[in-house]
Amino acid sequence: MKATTAQPAAGILAAEANDERERIIAMLTKAYWMEVETVVNYLAASINPDGVRAQEIIRSLAEDVHEELGHARQFGERIKELYGVVPGSADFHMDQPFMQPPDDQRDIIAVIRGVIEAETGAIGHYEAIVEASDQTDPVTNDMVIAILHDEQRHRRLFEGFLREYASES
Ligand SMILES: [Fe+2]
Ligand SMILES: [Fe+2]
Repeated sequence: MKATTAQPAAGILAAEANDERERIIAMLTKAYWMEVETVVNYLAASINPDGVRAQEIIRSLAEDVHEELGHARQFGERIKELYGVVPGSADFHMDQPFMQPPDDQRDIIAVIRGVIEAETGAIGHYEAIVEASDQTDPVTNDMVIAILHDEQRHRRLFEGFLREYASES
């Protein structure tokens, strides 16, 4: 890890908290990549779908692209504050096979299911960060709780879309 050394400080920034800080940086880095991959896939899914029924999904995902990019920025800035380094694309491991464009661009249900799976993955990892930082890093804890709230809202919205679209087809 290319982390720089912290100046004398207390809490998560203390020299004695080095291992704990690196553990949190690693979790934040994974979260950062999850957000970046979500931006890539929501961007595609806000362009590809065909048909009248797809338009509401396209509009919603086009907005989400900005929100998820904002999350990526928050994770990246927290990595820096903890004396980590935000990685470049050479370290990018992609992990969303379920968010690839379907064979039929009218298959909007496949897109909705992919979004729900992406949000569920984010929720699971962010819950783990909230738990890991609960006693040691209240600033990360607070930030990730707010992002977790956004992801729960996204998932709930798309669960509602799935209910509607699945009943129509
Ligand atoms: Fe996000
Ligand atoms: Fe999200």
